Amino acid sequence: MRAVRYHEHGEPDVLGVEELDEPTPAAAEVLVEIRAASVNAVDAKFRAGTYGSVSLPAIPGGDAAGVVAAVGEGVEEFAVGDRVFAGGLGHDEGGTFAEYAAIPRMKVAHLPENISFEVGGAIPNVGVTAWTALVERAGLEPTERLLVHGGNGGVGHAAVQLGATMGADVIATVGSESVGERVRDLGASATVDYDSETLAGEIDDATDGEGVDVILDHRLDDYLGLDLTVAAQNGRVITITGGIPSVENPPLQHKELTIRGTAIANIPERRPILQRIARLIVRGDLAPVVAETYGFEDVGEAHRAVVEGGYVGKLIVRP
Ligand SMILES: NC(=O)c1ccc[n+]([C@@H]2O[C@H](COP(=O)([O-])OP(=O)(O)OC[C@H]3O[C@@H](n4cnc5c(N)ncnc54)[C@H](OP(=O)(O)O)[C@@H]3O)[C@@H](O)[C@H]2O)c1
Repeated sequence: MRAVRYHEHGEPDVLGVEELDEPTPAAAEVLVEIRAASVNAVDAKFRAGTYGSVSLPAIPGGDAAGVVAAVGEGVEEFAVGDRVFAGGLGHDEGGTFAEYAAIPRMKVAHLPENISFEVGGAIPNVGVTAWTALVERAGLEPTERLLVHGGNGGVGHAAVQLGATMGADVIATVGSESVGERVRDLGASATVDYDSETLAGEIDDATDGEGVDVILDHRLDDYLGLDLTVAAQNGRVITITGGIPSVENPPLQHKELTIRGTAIANIPERRPILQRIARLIVRGDLAPVVAETYGFEDVGEAHRAVVEGGYVGKLIVRP
């Protein structure tokens, strides 16, 4: 099979296309013939060698949608020919930028007929992350105010839509007005420029001075101070990256704030969330956005693009 691989960490040009043996599914694994996969921000960090430990050579890619080609021992819920999507691979597992990938069964869910492979391949990692952060960690409630940093990003654009469909009032930060317009179309009631010198004041204005109940933060090092400033009483800050920078006089105590992390690596059983995500997509409450599609030869370009940003949604890779 053809696959993208890197043998050493480095710039995107370490990525090459190679001919490899098709993997054989082990017990409890599903062999998926990949039709579409997506680029996640973390893929570029794994490749660069700046995050986690990766055994080399490595195939990048953590999300996939495709068709079941074979099943390992003990897999009864999938049959050859089923349409499926799966997420969260790539960290020391066989990646998905390949014609086939063997994936643990609990990371795989059925993909309804009316969801395209591109959309199915775009959403797993970012959708599971947004779901876990908002539903399970934050306990977001209808009418609460939600701040999503980077509302156009992979996680951000899923969180904006999920928050809106949960009945929250969503405020998102973005890098430009043209992107902001598209994020408002996804369900944000207000967008603010993350480079604004009056960011905290603008967020406060968007809440009519009442503050934000839940904050989804993907750059805690940069924004924890702001988060604690704009948080309402009993606010919850959910972080998907970073350590905790020092903040002068954090109003943790008198506002009774919570800061909580979440990591998709801690969720081996992704199927129940993927099934809910599929239902949201079928209902029209979640519409993963495909910004660009790349072939295997252009994965380096896709890795550059994910770091550069400035688009809405996800970058897709197709064999
Ligand atoms: N904990 C977990 O389980 C988990 C899961 C998924 C992702 N993550 C991490 O979460 C982060 C986001 O992931 P992703 O897949 O959503 O990445 P992504 O698709 O690349 O999105 C990144 C977002 O950050 C925005 N951004 C860039 N500079 C910014 C700034 N100065 N202030 C605020 N926002 C800024 C981007 O806006 P522009 O388009 O304007 O550049 C974009 O909206 C990554 O670090 C990723 O590794 C963690």
